Amino acid sequence: MNNDGTKARRGRKRAQNEVRLIFPSHSVNESYARSAAAVFVSQINPTLTELSDIKCAVSEAVTNCIVHGYRDTLGTIYITMRLYENREFRIEIKDKGCGIPNITEAMQPLYTTDKENERSGMGFTIMENFMDSLKVSSGKSGTKVVMSKKLAPLPTVIK
Ligand SMILES: Nc1ncnc2c1ncn2[C@@H]1O[C@H](COP(=O)(O)OP(=O)(O)OP(=O)(O)O)[C@@H](O)[C@H]1O
Ligand SMILES: [Mg+2]
Repeated sequence: MNNDGTKARRGRKRAQNEVRLIFPSHSVNESYARSAAAVFVSQINPTLTELSDIKCAVSEAVTNCIVHGYRDTLGTIYITMRLYENREFRIEIKDKGCGIPNITEAMQPLYTTDKENERSGMGFTIMENFMDSLKVSSGKSGTKVVMSKKLAPLPTVIK
């Protein structure tokens, strides 16, 4: 509790902007989510490389919800995106699907449970490499992926 009686918010800084998306796991919505993330982050002028890294990572995480989390069923995907004053972008992508029994194993490069569809098992590796941080939590009630990336400072214009 703070001195003025309000609830203390431990450690977490306040977001400058935040959006939430909730949509069904139709495969066409993967490109919607990827583009929505790109449009959201564009307000702070990312470089083309930063933009393409974020689109790729979001695409991998959302595809995983669709093809693994909900497999042959239709479910709901929940996304929260935030921007902070230090130019940090954070995104949380969540499903209420089957969950991952062993996260450490699932995050190994080339590990896949879906060989028949010729998946390469590189989704988590791509997310890890294209973003600054990746956290995965999973259980019987589904899977949550949280990723962040701090964008480079804007170039100063010399007049
Ligand atoms: N949201 C999820 N729900 C359930 N299982 C998942 C989820 N995301 C990932 N997994 C499991 O983790 C494994 C590894 O995921 P990863 O994205 O690295 O590879 P992949 O999806 O199998 O292949 P690729 O992403 O290269 O097409 C998957 O094969 C799947 O077993
Ligand atoms: Mg994948």
